[in-house]
Amino acid sequence: MSGETSMSNGESIQRIVGHYADADEAARLRQGGCQLEHARTQELILRHLPPARATIIDAGGGAGIYACWLASRGYQVHLIDLVPKHVEQARAASAQQPDHPLASAEVGDARRLPHADASADAVLLLGPLYHLVEREDRIACLREAHRVLRPGGLVWGVGISHFASLFDSLAHGFFDDPQFAALLERDLEDGQHRNPTASPIYFTDAYFHRPGELSREFLAAGFQVVEIVAIEGPGWLARDFQRLWSDPLQRERLLTTVRKVEREPSVLGASSHIMAIGRK
Ligand SMILES: C[S@@+](CC[C@H](N)C(=O)[O-])C[C@H]1O[C@@H](n2cnc3c(N)ncnc32)[C@H](O)[C@@H]1O
Repeated sequence: MSGETSMSNGESIQRIVGHYADADEAARLRQGGCQLEHARTQELILRHLPPARATIIDAGGGAGIYACWLASRGYQVHLIDLVPKHVEQARAASAQQPDHPLASAEVGDARRLPHADASADAVLLLGPLYHLVEREDRIACLREAHRVLRPGGLVWGVGISHFASLFDSLAHGFFDDPQFAALLERDLEDGQHRNPTASPIYFTDAYFHRPGELSREFLAAGFQVVEIVAIEGPGWLARDFQRLWSDPLQRERLLTTVRKVEREPSVLGASSHIMAIGRK
């Protein structure tokens, strides 16, 4: 048994909870390159989503940004997250839209959903697949999504690219931080991301996928892969991102260009996040 598998679930959950105690997940998608992640994730969800009032389970839904947006569009959305603070934030956001509240928001684990077999039309896994560092746990999480989906139902799963730390550090100026060097070396070695510093900017325990691995995990869990796409593509690396994003013309050019290369295999790994969409 590897050192990773011997780490108890409780320990791993505590690390995730500890990381998000310091990180402001509710505000993240409004800042810098995450705005591109947000816009593109919404676009890729809408590309395949069945019409409202379909039932969606957002497992690892965080502070409810996507869940509340989907509820506001008329979907029946159930949010599950490991972090109690995030579930509280999601409930508060839901209370702000009383005409379109979340159907539920509960603390829970995406590997053990409280929902009945074949009860959902769609499952979002926009977090658990990179936080679960062991392949067997990621497959268990995907199998659980498969269990709760109706036949023909869809799952959206996000991985962080194996190369994200390399591109991030080069583009954003911390490649020469000595504390970062060991972290980067391990990322590139085996995809196991560990942050030995106290700084939340270097994230927490995670697994960083190669695009092909994410597809293979979907297949291993019994899904047919509908598509595998770059969320931000290389767009998150744009010099002066905020200036481009603030200009409506340049923002549209950036989005059009990212769309153009979203399935290009030789560029997939340059995206910070990679999304696989699977069908039961
Ligand atoms: C970076 S946040 C993303 C939140 C949101 N889905 C988004 O895309 O903005 C990752 C979230 O996944 C949650 N998470 C990680 N592993 C999980 C698991 N096994 N079960 C439920 N939630 C999990 C974390 O608690 C955290 O809220």
